[in-house]
Amino acid sequence: NEKGWISESLVLYQGFWYVSTISLQGAMAVQQHFKARPTDILLTSTPKSGTTWTKALIFAIINRTNYDFTTHPLLIHNPHDCVPTLETNLYRTTPIPNPDVLPSPRLFSTHIPYSSLPESITASNCRIIHICRNPKDVLISFWFFANKLQAKLNKDHPLLPLEEAFQLFCKGASPYGPYWDQVLGYWKASLEWPERILFLKYEGLKGNPFSCLKKLAEHLGYPFSLEEEEQGVVEKILNLCSFENLSSLDVNKNPEKVGNLGVENSAFYRKGQVGDWENHLTAEMVEHIDRITEQKFHGSGLSF
Ligand code: A3P
Repeated sequence: NEKGWISESLVLYQGFWYVSTISLQGAMAVQQHFKARPTDILLTSTPKSGTTWTKALIFAIINRTNYDFTTHPLLIHNPHDCVPTLETNLYRTTPIPNPDVLPSPRLFSTHIPYSSLPESITASNCRIIHICRNPKDVLISFWFFANKLQAKLNKDHPLLPLEEAFQLFCKGASPYGPYWDQVLGYWKASLEWPERILFLKYEGLKGNPFSCLKKLAEHLGYPFSLEEEEQGVVEKILNLCSFENLSSLDVNKNPEKVGNLGVENSAFYRKGQVGDWENHLTAEMVEHIDRITEQKFHGSGLSF
C-alpha cells in the first residue's frame, strides 16, 4: 500500500475485511479454483494467533519419520515456506500454481473465514485445525507487525498509534476481521463437526504443550505411538518448534531473509508470550475490548 497504513486498503467482502493488495484477489481465486482432497490438512487462523508456530508443529508431526531432527527442513526454511497460505502464497500469483501435483497429505493454511471457504473444503472430509488467541494479544501482536510492514513499505509514513489500531480492531476493521466473527465461525463449526475441525488456543498450546501436541497429532491421523513417546519424539518436536529455537535460526532472524509478502521472516517472531497486552493497553481499553468479547461470545461456550 503506497498511501499509508494497511488499514487504508481494507475492503469488505462477504462480511469480512481483506487487505485489497494482499489477500482479496487470492481469496476469490481460492473460492473459484481450489479443489480439496479428503486427505488435505488445512490450518485456519486469525492473523497473529500463532499461525507460524502451528504450521511448524503440523509440518513436524506429519514429517517426523522423514527427517532427522538435526537436519530438519524447519532448521533452514521458514514454516510459511513449508505450509503455504492458500490466498497469499498459492492463489495470489498468476498463473495460479497447480496444487494438484502436490503429493498427499497436502498441508495448507488460510485466514479465510469459515463462511467464505469454498464448498470444496467444507463438503470434503479434510482435516481442519483452527488456532486462535486472546484478542488483546492478537491486537498488540498485529499492531507491531503492521507497523513493521508499514515502515518497510513507506519509510516516510507515520506509524499507526496504538489508540487508532485499537479503535479499528474494536470496530472489526482488521485483516479477516471482525476478529470475533472469524473466530466464532470456526468455533461453531468445530462444535458441529468435531471429528473434522480441531479448535486450539495459543494459550492452551503454551500452557499445556505436551497434551495439545498429542491431541493435534491424533486429529491429523498421525498419533504418537507409545514407543515414540518413550523415545521423546513429542519433546523433540516441541523443542524444534519452540519460539526460542525457531526465532534464533538464521532463516528466521536474518533481516535479509524475506518471505513472499515482502516482510522479513523475523517479523513473525516477536515475543511469543501470553499476556503482553498488559504492557500496552490502558485499563479503559481492556475494559472495552473485554466487554466486546463477552457480548460477542456470550452463549457460545467460548471464552479467554
Ligand atoms: P507476538 O507478537 O505476541 O510475539 P502469526 O504466526 O499468526 O502471525 O502470529 C505471530 C505471533 O506468534 C507473534 O506473537 C509471534 O511472536 C508468535 N510466535 C511465532 N512463533 C512462535 C512459536 N514458535 N511459539 C510461540 N509463539 C510464536
